[in-house]
Amino acid sequence: MVRLPGDKSISHRYAMLGAIAEGRTTIRGFSSAADCSSTLECLRALGVAIEQEGEAVSIGGAGLGGLQAPRQVLDAGNSGSTIRMLSGILAGQDSRATITGDASLRRRPMRRIIEPLCQMGAEIRARDGQYAPREIRGGRLRPIHYRLPVPSAQIKTAVLFAGLFAEGITTVEEELKTRDHTELALAELGAEITVRGSAVQVSGRRPLRGKEFRVPGDLSSAAFFLVAALLVPQSNLHLENVGLNPTRAALLDLLVGWGADVRVSNVESLAGELIGDLHVSGGPVEGGAIGPELVPGLIDELPVLAVLGAHSQQGLRISGAQELRVKESDRIATVAENLRRMGAQVSELPDGLEVPGRQRLRGARLDSFGDHRIAMAFSVAALAAEGESVIVGADAAQVSFPEFYDTLERVVQG
Ligand code: S3P
Repeated sequence: MVRLPGDKSISHRYAMLGAIAEGRTTIRGFSSAADCSSTLECLRALGVAIEQEGEAVSIGGAGLGGLQAPRQVLDAGNSGSTIRMLSGILAGQDSRATITGDASLRRRPMRRIIEPLCQMGAEIRARDGQYAPREIRGGRLRPIHYRLPVPSAQIKTAVLFAGLFAEGITTVEEELKTRDHTELALAELGAEITVRGSAVQVSGRRPLRGKEFRVPGDLSSAAFFLVAALLVPQSNLHLENVGLNPTRAALLDLLVGWGADVRVSNVESLAGELIGDLHVSGGPVEGGAIGPELVPGLIDELPVLAVLGAHSQQGLRISGAQELRVKESDRIATVAENLRRMGAQVSELPDGLEVPGRQRLRGARLDSFGDHRIAMAFSVAALAAEGESVIVGADAAQVSFPEFYDTLERVVQG
C-alpha cells in the first residue's frame, strides 16, 4: 500500500486562498513538498498567521486587503507555482514586494504573468524584463479578458487571483483545458466564479470565506509508482486516496488505453475534487502517441512516461510539449540525456521526444539536473534496468515528494 503526499497544486491554492479569505481555513493532508513550504513561508512573510503540525495546516485569513508589506525578499525556492500564482495576489495589494527563487526558478519565464498583471494595473519590474527577482507594486486593478497564450494553469490562476481584487468581472479563456483546481477552490470559498466552455469568469472585490479542506493524494507523485509497478513483472500495488480530478487524470486513461491493468475504486468528491484508490498490476503496455491536446492533462507525468515508452511494445512519440523545455529543467533534453546514458535510443524533437519501444535499459551514472521529476523518473528507470545506477542530485525529489525513496524502498522489499 502506498500513501502519497497531499497534492502539491491543490495545497498551494488552498494555502494562498486561505490567506486572503476571512476567518480560518484548515487544511488536512497538506503536501510535505518543499515547494509547498515555500508557499507557507512567503505567506508568513506577508503577515499571515499559519500553524502547521505535520500535514495539518491552520491559516488565519487576513482578508483580501489584509496582507502586510513584507520586510524581506520573498523566496519561492524552486517553486514556479508559488512565484507565479502568488504574484496575482501581490498585484492586488496596496504595497510593494520583491519575490525571487533558486537558480532554476530565476531562469524560468515570467513574462507570461507580467504581461496580464500589468494590463490589470500592477507595476512589475523584473530582471531583464522577464526573470526573477521581480518587484511587484500592487494597487487598484482593473478586470481584463485574457486569452492564455500557452496552456498554463499557473498563468490562469495568477490572472484569476488578481481578478479577485479588480472591480468587475475578469475572464480567462483557454484553448486547451488546464487543471481547474483554482476554479474548484474558489467556488468552495464562496467566490462568484463561472465556467462556460473555455472561459472562466470571476467577480472581484467579494470576500472569500475560510473553510475546512482535505487535500487528495498527488496523482503526479503516484505516477512514479504506477509506472514502477507496470515495469516490474508480478507487481501489485495499491495506492490510497489519490486525486482523480479529470483535468489531471489523463494519465490513467492513457495507461488503460495502452492495455495496462489499472483499476480505480472508492471514488468520492472532496470539495469538488474527485479522490479514489488505484490498483495497478505489472505487465506489458502498448505505447503510442501523445499529441498537443493531451499534454496539459499529463504535463508533469511526461518524464516518467518516456521511461515507460522505452519499455513499451510500440514506443512513444510525444509532440506539442514544448512547455517541457521551461520546467525545473529542460525536460526534453534531460530525459533524452539520461535515457542515452542508459544505452537507449531516443530522438529529441523541438516539442517532444521519440522513444522507440522494446528497449533494455542498463544501469548508468545519471543526473537529476536539479529537477525533482527527473530524479524520480530515473529512479524508476534504474529499478527496471540491468545493473546499478547512481543518480547525482537525487535529493531533488524533496521538492515534491520528500518520502519518495523511503516509499520506493518499502514497496520494492514488499
Ligand atoms: C501547475 C501547473 C503546471 C504544472 C506545475 C503545476 C499548477 O505548470 O507543470 O507542476 O499547479 O498550476 P504550468 O502552468 O506552467 O503548465
